[in-house]
This record gives sequence, C-alpha cells and structure tokens, in this order.
Amino acid sequence: MKDLKISIIGAGNVGATAATAIAQKELCNQLVLLDVRNGIAEGKALDMWQSAPLALYDTRSIGVTDDFSATANSQIVVITSGMPRKPGMNREDLVSQNARIVQHVTRNVMTYSPDAIILVVSNPLDVMAYCAYLTAQCPPRKVLGMAGLLDTARYRAFIADAINCSVKDIQAVSLGGHGDTMVPLPRYTTVSGVPLRQFLDDDTIHKICERTRYGGGELVNLMGTSAWVAPGIATARMVESIVLDQRRIMPASVYMNGEYGIKDIFFGVPAKIGRNGVEEILEIELNDEERAMVDQSAISVKETTDILLNMNIF
Ligand code: 2OP
Repeated sequence: MKDLKISIIGAGNVGATAATAIAQKELCNQLVLLDVRNGIAEGKALDMWQSAPLALYDTRSIGVTDDFSATANSQIVVITSGMPRKPGMNREDLVSQNARIVQHVTRNVMTYSPDAIILVVSNPLDVMAYCAYLTAQCPPRKVLGMAGLLDTARYRAFIADAINCSVKDIQAVSLGGHGDTMVPLPRYTTVSGVPLRQFLDDDTIHKICERTRYGGGELVNLMGTSAWVAPGIATARMVESIVLDQRRIMPASVYMNGEYGIKDIFFGVPAKIGRNGVEEILEIELNDEERAMVDQSAISVKETTDILLNMNIF
C-alpha cells in the first residue's frame, strides 16, 4: 500500500462513498474525512475503519470536524462540499452558495497541502472546478472535476440494458459540461470494439442519450436528493488513476486553453489522468452535429461561469 495521504472534504453521501471505495482499493494508507457538521466525519470514518477487518483493507480512515490541519500534506484532496440538488432545482441553482463554500474549502486545503492535486465533485461541477482553480492559483493540470466519468457510466449502463450484454464491454466517451447540455458521443461508442450503431437503432440511441443528460435529475426526483453511489465510485476511479499513475483516458472536467476552440472555462473532455493530474487533453474529431452540441454546451457552461465571476469574490 502506498505511503500516501488523501483527504476528502465533505463527508456527505458522495464523500463517504468515495472514501469507502478508495479505502477498499487501498489506494493510500491515510484517509482523512472532514466535515463542518460536528461528529459526522468522525463517525463515518470510525464506521469505515470498523469495516476494514471485514472488507480486508488496511487504509486507516480518520474523521475531523472542520480541522483542516488534519489534512496537512495530502497528495490528493477531493472536494465534495456544498449543497446537493433538491427536486426541481438545476445544478446551476447552486452556484452562489456552493461557490463560497468551495472557495473557503480550497483556501484551507492550499494552506495545508499546497502541492495537492484537487479533484472537485461539488455542483455545478464545471463551475466549482473553476472556482477551486481560481482560488488555488496552481497550475491548471492540478485541478480537475469528476463528471464525464459518471455521465458515461450512466450511458454505458443504459446501453448494456438495451443490448442485454455486459456493461464491461461498453466503451464510451462524452464531451461537455455536467448538465443538461452534456454531449454523449454515440459515434465513438463501441461494444467490444464494434460501433454501437450495429446494435441499436437511432431512435433507441437518441432516447439513451436523452436519459443520460437527465440521469442525475432522474435520481434526484426518485430520492429527493442527488445520487451518491455512482458519483462516489467514479471519484475513486479518478483517484486511482492519479495514485497509480495509470494514465487512463476518461472524460474529466479540465481547464480549457483553446482545445476544441474553447478557452478559459472548465469543460468535460477526454483526458489522460496520471500522477500529475491532467497529463494530456485529447482532441477528437467531431462532425458538424457534434460540434454544434459541444459549442452549445460551452455557451451554457460559460453562462454559469459568468454567474461565478460576477460574484466578485476572487
Ligand atoms: C449527478 O449527476 C450529483 O451531479 C451529480 O448525480
């Protein structure tokens, strides 16, 4: 097991699920959970540690209430803090309150772990990743957001259902913001290397893309709050690729500096994720229809980013 410290800020459903998955994979020996609510992180970390003899892992979890000094010298910090959506809310409705939280958290994280790679999970995802980046003032490759991996996991699950095959054989990529304008890419989706269109007709594929776009909302409506199992596990997968320097290629929200003609927002694109965070952004060829959807998504992320910038908090 790596001699490594990972901290997770926010011990809500997503934070605790990510922590459990990270511990079960033994990606680090020290795992710190931090929450503002008294005793919550301590309780969840203790419960996790008591599961270690059963799940057979040695990652030691500790929980703290708002004490950022306990996160000192973390190599990776996952930020899940913020309010989740309630039914009827868009992710964008959360900008102003979550920006202040993410800014406060990032300042504290940087005080104690100035070299950490920051993985943002708070919503609205792309804008909160940008908020963390502006606050951290670190190289852009060190801040990334978890979204596309979750969106493509939903998409892959729906496809596996439609084809009645193993989810393991569905490979997919998506582009765009983590919102209703996200762009799943059927042309680049394969089933064990065979193009998706040889398995499903256009109408079925269209319905799957639509369901994916509203996949988060579907769960909010069912549960009254946002999802946590797939988001937590997607977060752990990204952490794994960083810790083990796997250089896996996955959709992630990253700082755009002209790639795809998009500048100065965080946006979902396929990226190589390794020990330095974002190792490389991959630019794939798009047809006119895909290009138009990506442009539309970039406009939507830019509009929400402007809400953040107009708060004048940086
Ligand atoms: C989701 O899509 C929480 O935004 C997250 O479920």
